[in-house]
Amino acid sequence: MTDLGRADRTAALRLRDAFLDAGFTADGLLTMLGASAYAALGRGEHVPARRALQDRHGAEAELARLFVLGDAAERSDVARHLPLDDLLALGLVGGGATLRALVDVRPYGESDTDWYVVSDHGPDSAGHDVGEVAVDHVLGVGGASLTLARLTPRVQVDRALDLGTGCGVQALHLGRHAGTVVATDRNRRALRLAAVTAALSGQEWDLREGSMFEPVAGETFDLVVSNPPFVISPGHRYTYRDAGLPADDLGRLLVTQAPGRLSDGGTAVILANWLHLRGQDWRERVASWVATTGCDAWIAEREVQDPAEYVGLWLRDAGGRSDDAEASAEHDRRYAEWLDELRAMDAEGIGFGWVVLHKGGTYGAQGPRIEDAVHAPRQPRGDEVAALVAARAGWARWDAFALLGARPSRAPGLRLVEEERADAAGRLGSMPSRVGLVDGWRPDVVLDSVGLHLVRQLDGDTSLADAVGSAAAAYDLDPDDVLPGALLAVRGLVEDGHLLLEPDDA
Ligand SMILES: C[S@@+](CC[C@H](N)C(=O)[O-])C[C@H]1O[C@@H](n2cnc3c(N)ncnc32)[C@H](O)[C@@H]1O
Repeated sequence: MTDLGRADRTAALRLRDAFLDAGFTADGLLTMLGASAYAALGRGEHVPARRALQDRHGAEAELARLFVLGDAAERSDVARHLPLDDLLALGLVGGGATLRALVDVRPYGESDTDWYVVSDHGPDSAGHDVGEVAVDHVLGVGGASLTLARLTPRVQVDRALDLGTGCGVQALHLGRHAGTVVATDRNRRALRLAAVTAALSGQEWDLREGSMFEPVAGETFDLVVSNPPFVISPGHRYTYRDAGLPADDLGRLLVTQAPGRLSDGGTAVILANWLHLRGQDWRERVASWVATTGCDAWIAEREVQDPAEYVGLWLRDAGGRSDDAEASAEHDRRYAEWLDELRAMDAEGIGFGWVVLHKGGTYGAQGPRIEDAVHAPRQPRGDEVAALVAARAGWARWDAFALLGARPSRAPGLRLVEEERADAAGRLGSMPSRVGLVDGWRPDVVLDSVGLHLVRQLDGDTSLADAVGSAAAAYDLDPDDVLPGALLAVRGLVEDGHLLLEPDDA
């Protein structure tokens, strides 16, 4: 039994009202703390928030100290702002005359929502026992959570699945645009906290316990999202982090199994880590995961770390580093063991990224799109992911002949930058040129003069055939020689969102 009973739901709704009345909201917290301390909280660092709150009084500050910083509070003070019986019934606080929050309750939300995410206290909070976190620790909203939330296309769907829901942050976002949200986790504690997250946020989800896709066997979804325990680590120390599978098998299994749970036209967005093995291109490795899925796939790598960086990051993440000699020796032993395991795999690095699968896409004809997004100016947003998926799905309709008759247009905000360069004789020529979107997520694309001319012609009224003809004429070239490169360039520019190709152009 993972969901809350009726009485607990009612208690959660009363608490929600009391939180709102007290001004304990994400906007309120941001205003009270300031942007820098608020951002530090997001990184699990509490000191700036503690300093910002030290001279603050009133309900909002008291609740932030109790639930966000994990400080103790007098029972009578808490009772002035919140219904104590409800807090105790939901297991949010414990103690006698002095109360402590047993979990972190964090106001969270999009601009027009007030949600509350319930998780365990992080290793830096006063509410956390000194030392490392527990095996079944339930993580709050972290960097990876926000990455996935930002990447997910926010289109209205019938059924959505959040695999590995933890505190429920992805499910909250899905609740805004999915008729039904199914949220699963292998960790029963996580499901209990997710149930409280949903109730305090005024949402209802179908919560199910189990590993990987087991709890949803035989079902299909229009949207699947997962921020899974992707860390490539020895053994199974923390459920939120370690899948207990060899090497990067977790990513491979999720990517190969997700298509079976997608409805036709459905999309899956999965965060993953993969190995960079000596002598093997990581692209081949991850491409092999999607090769038999029958889905179109977009694989992007946003960061690569060397083994020591990687191990150091994840050991710090779980806390437990201390001046105590025994703990310090244990930390160093684990560090060495982890490095040994990565070395035994022949790992030179570990890539962080995402895999987007689209069922009913045109995989096979075009192969997956695989890219290194390490130098991207920012992460793509869900609407950009949706546009890329749609553009790739559209290629099935566009044979070369249809494409020549189409009338692509430049995306609003497209910048064409022409750089002039003098040759040895001092004559100015315009080369090379770049095209990019203002505040786009991709680095600019370099174009030659013919490509630049082509893009300049594409105003939504001119056919691609005419634009190719015009570009060829401008440079005294045969249009047949220009055509293959032009078609390839246009495909890339459409997928990147630089050119728009409406479906009814076909
Ligand atoms: C990194 S946390 C992500 C939590 C949350 N979805 C987010 O985006 O912040 C990974 C979650 O996957 C769960 N998990 C671990 N192994 C799992 C498995 N085999 N099947 C399903 N969930 C699993 C963990 O308990 C944890 O809640």
